[in-house]
Amino acid sequence: MKTVLVTGASGLIGRHLCRLLETKGYAIHVLGRSKKNDLPYKQFVWDVNKGVVDSDAFEGINAIIHLAGANISEGRWTKHRQQEIRDSRVKSTKLLLKAVQAAGIHLDVFVSSSAIGYYGATTSDTIFAEADSSAEDFIGNVCLEWELSADAFEQNDVRTVKLRTGVVMTPTEGPLAKMARPIQSGFGSALGSGKQFMPWIHIDDLCEIYLQSIEDVAMSGPYNAVAPTHATNAQVTSTIGRVLNRKTWLPNVPAFVLKLIFGEMAVIFLEGSRVSSHRIEQTGFQFRYPELEKALTNLM
Ligand SMILES: NC(=O)c1ccc[n+]([C@@H]2O[C@H](COP(=O)([O-])OP(=O)(O)OC[C@H]3O[C@@H](n4cnc5c(N)ncnc54)[C@H](OP(=O)(O)O)[C@@H]3O)[C@@H](O)[C@H]2O)c1
Repeated sequence: MKTVLVTGASGLIGRHLCRLLETKGYAIHVLGRSKKNDLPYKQFVWDVNKGVVDSDAFEGINAIIHLAGANISEGRWTKHRQQEIRDSRVKSTKLLLKAVQAAGIHLDVFVSSSAIGYYGATTSDTIFAEADSSAEDFIGNVCLEWELSADAFEQNDVRTVKLRTGVVMTPTEGPLAKMARPIQSGFGSALGSGKQFMPWIHIDDLCEIYLQSIEDVAMSGPYNAVAPTHATNAQVTSTIGRVLNRKTWLPNVPAFVLKLIFGEMAVIFLEGSRVSSHRIEQTGFQFRYPELEKALTNLM
């Protein structure tokens, strides 16, 4: 039986992913800031800021899936929060490499989360692909540093996969629940111009991509983890309304209101371009939910 170490397993993606890995027969080690009562796996603790990690977490592991990171949409982007967002991803990746080397083990694969924010908070007609450069904004820079820290595994002869993930649609909590709540109450509307694209992915497809990243030895480097069909914020809003059988009749929430509430972070709601799923599809990956309406109908 192969053993996978998952960081950030208590989060939105991690909980779904660990369930899938378990059904596929993997043993799971979980590495988190604290042990959680409701995670039925072997748990180990680390403190990224102090550079401390329980070395037992690495015993007998074949792969690491690195999901941990301070949530980018929680709290205003103060200097302190920005540092936390960066450190929780970059320092943690470096700490994992150090611990793997200290344990003297050879991993089959290191899979790191990344985000479509790599391409920048910008609204355009461009369809970004993996060969495009990272943007020079805050999230673009964080994603670049995060991916470069993951590349250090590759330089140590470990196959490395980086999944530039779009907005993950899950049945409860997460971005979809946040968008659906006001729509359900009859007060939902698009944000800003509504024309910004919102690259998205159904949680089941994302978890299958993580699984394939572990098992498909031909996979290496960055892959956009986004559904093949593109939708703007206005289209996502109206599709949620249709699925919930609610009218979305209110005018769009003006950009300045979001900037007042969220400060600099508002860009993640107000800007977005299309992102290509071509490279992951070229690996043979087949999306179960390539279309938004079917994905949302399944989730809601
Ligand atoms: N959800 C999305 O739509 C989406 C889209 C693109 C990219 N991603 C990326 O995918 C990864 C997982 O996403 P998610 O939605 O599952 O995130 P999440 O629900 O916010 O969970 C992330 C986990 O990271 C750990 N964590 C939080 N703050 C930390 C800190 N300061 N230092 C170290 N660990 C910390 C926590 O686990 P413990 O408490 O167990 O340590 C937390 O449960 C993240 O890196 C995220 O940026 C997510």
